[in-house]
Amino acid sequence: MGEAGQVPEDVDVPEGVDVTRPTPARLYDYYLGGTSNFEVDRIAAEQMRLQMPELSDMAWANRGFHQRAARWIARRGVRQFIDIGSGLPTASNTHQALLEVIPDARVVYVDLDPMVAAHADGLLTSRDSARLITADLRDPGALLASSDLRAMIDFAEPAGLLITAVLHFVADASDPWGLVARYVDALAPGSYLALSHGTADKLPPAMVRAAHEMFARATEQLYPRSLAEVERFFAGLELAEPYQGAGPMICHTGEWGAEDPATADSDGSRIMYCGVARRP
Ligand SMILES: C[S@@+](CC[C@H](N)C(=O)[O-])C[C@H]1O[C@@H](n2cnc3c(N)ncnc32)[C@H](O)[C@@H]1O
Repeated sequence: MGEAGQVPEDVDVPEGVDVTRPTPARLYDYYLGGTSNFEVDRIAAEQMRLQMPELSDMAWANRGFHQRAARWIARRGVRQFIDIGSGLPTASNTHQALLEVIPDARVVYVDLDPMVAAHADGLLTSRDSARLITADLRDPGALLASSDLRAMIDFAEPAGLLITAVLHFVADASDPWGLVARYVDALAPGSYLALSHGTADKLPPAMVRAAHEMFARATEQLYPRSLAEVERFFAGLELAEPYQGAGPMICHTGEWGAEDPATADSDGSRIMYCGVARRP
């Protein structure tokens, strides 16, 4: 590997893509075993993995929650989805995860990172049923007014809003709770929110410091939140039961929808809280 920030000459850098700093989308892609990342991401990812060996496990546990939650929502009759902070195309994107439940589900992917648009072929296998918008979720007015969003989503019908592993990149100053409420309020009653969020509640302080130091050099910084802070995202909504006998609650990503939650709750899973809720 060369020096961080240097890109080998044979690598194509899409327009608008910053190769001098790691980005959340490319780091996550790397932890999932993807190849849509640069040397600067791989060096940072491996440095962080020295402190947190379970980062790939964290990414897979979260991805599994995302897919199970999307299918669970689809089984309740929802046929249209907004996937905010969708990330780079990966093993099973939302519209592919939904295929076995609703083959004609409509999915709008939204992501801030221009690298996602540059690799959108994996997301947009069918232009009629999937679309990508490059936008910052911190500007809900612009996103909700987007003609691409309005062309795909019927706001009079229930929708599934997926915001997984994204809001820990949004500072308190941007009021992530107010942003989620704004998006949920725009949806019809009977819509669902699926959300996961990074936490430091069960991590040793040295690990948390290492993560903050790495993200201080990245395009977005890290804002892990407590259980009580994550619960606030679901205020006014009807939380679903994540697994049989649990009652309505927030849990860790491996546990949600798991047949055997005790086995599924790995160390990586405990880096995230998650929940699914219905808008009454
Ligand atoms: C860790 S990935 C999660 C991908 C996917 N949601 C999942 O759970 O598998 C976080 C994604 O959120 C995106 N993101 C971060 N801040 C954002 C913002 N303000 N607006 C839109 N996307 C954002 C990043 O670019 C990245 O692709």
